[in-house]
Amino acid sequence: MRAILGTKDFVLGTFASNCSGGMTPTLLPERWASSWENNEKLGLLLDEAGIDFMLPIARWIGYGGETDFHGQVLETMTWATALLAKTKRLTVFATIHVAANHPVVVAKQMASLDEISRGRAGLNIVAGWNKPEYEALGLTLPPDHPTRYRYAQEWFDIVEKIWTSETPFDWDGEFFKLKGCYGKPLPWNRERPPIINAAGSGEGREFATRNADFLFTPAIDLSRSKAEVQELKGQARNVGRNVDVLTFSHVVCRPTEQEARDYWTHFADKNADWVAVDNLIALQFANAQSFPHDLMALIRDRFAAGHGGFPLVGTPTQVADGISALHEAGFKGTTLSFVDYVKEFPYFRDEVLPLLEARGLRAAR
Ligand SMILES: Cc1cc2nc3c(=O)[nH]c(=O)nc-3n(C[C@H](O)[C@H](O)[C@H](O)COP(=O)(O)O)c2cc1C
Repeated sequence: MRAILGTKDFVLGTFASNCSGGMTPTLLPERWASSWENNEKLGLLLDEAGIDFMLPIARWIGYGGETDFHGQVLETMTWATALLAKTKRLTVFATIHVAANHPVVVAKQMASLDEISRGRAGLNIVAGWNKPEYEALGLTLPPDHPTRYRYAQEWFDIVEKIWTSETPFDWDGEFFKLKGCYGKPLPWNRERPPIINAAGSGEGREFATRNADFLFTPAIDLSRSKAEVQELKGQARNVGRNVDVLTFSHVVCRPTEQEARDYWTHFADKNADWVAVDNLIALQFANAQSFPHDLMALIRDRFAAGHGGFPLVGTPTQVADGISALHEAGFKGTTLSFVDYVKEFPYFRDEVLPLLEARGLRAAR
């Protein structure tokens, strides 16, 4: 059984360290530089600390503004390969846009990555939403969700068929015609790598509950999250599957609450790259349904702070309280992001992880 699928722990990962700015569209000079040097340092720190996974964002053009937030991005399959070669325990996901990547190629890349890492590779599937990015690639984003997800389903059916087929097969589908197709090696131990999807639309959530192990959804208001998580898990059970729900959080952890709050105001209000923030929000709202549209005002602040992530701000105890609240709402885990991941993670590791262990949310490593 894959480590990340079998664990009873509340799982923790990082998100977006392959992208310039990480999850923080700020003008501050210490904003995250998504160099390989920084990613390698972070991967080693996380692996050593027993963090469960790293999740990248696949991005082909940035969000503009003074910093061109997410303008400099390490491609996720190559990024994951290098990280998995360097680490021992971490699961590392690649993020793939189905329209930009042929399923036969991705199935083979993932199986190779899984062999290199002895079963620590994962796949985050993006069905598509970012129209200007599609245009930059010369692709057309289908305007309607049903077409996007019919394509995503056929794409993933092919990947799964390759991952499980011993013999060559033909494929005669709506979008793909394949002849004499197969892919070896198969995934490590012939187990399917863990699958993530972050859909918000009805069609997308049907896709996620049918196919994914983890569905990502923003935690904007935990009283709503509780019902949402139950509903999603129920929807998965109705098709005979177990799907866990994850969210993403942004961490500012300091010895005092005042220090944490002051820094939050400094990077996410006074020094936010507001042009990039507004471009990011406009695009999300134009083409995706991941964020509830009625929570827009609250979301603008949260996008400036952590790309819409759940705020974990304050002392180590307050940050641990926030994580406990996510757990109580039914989430199985969260990603973490920091303004400077490498500089700030060690404080989280030393002060927050022991609290989570003491509360029984995670086993000691
Ligand atoms: C955790 C997480 C990871 C995501 N990763 C990516 C990504 O790497 N690339 C991308 O284009 N979109 C990414 N997205 C955006 C979602 O894929 C997008 O909102 C979703 O496809 C919209 O689906 P919907 O139209 O069904 O709501 C991510 C969203 C979340 C919450």
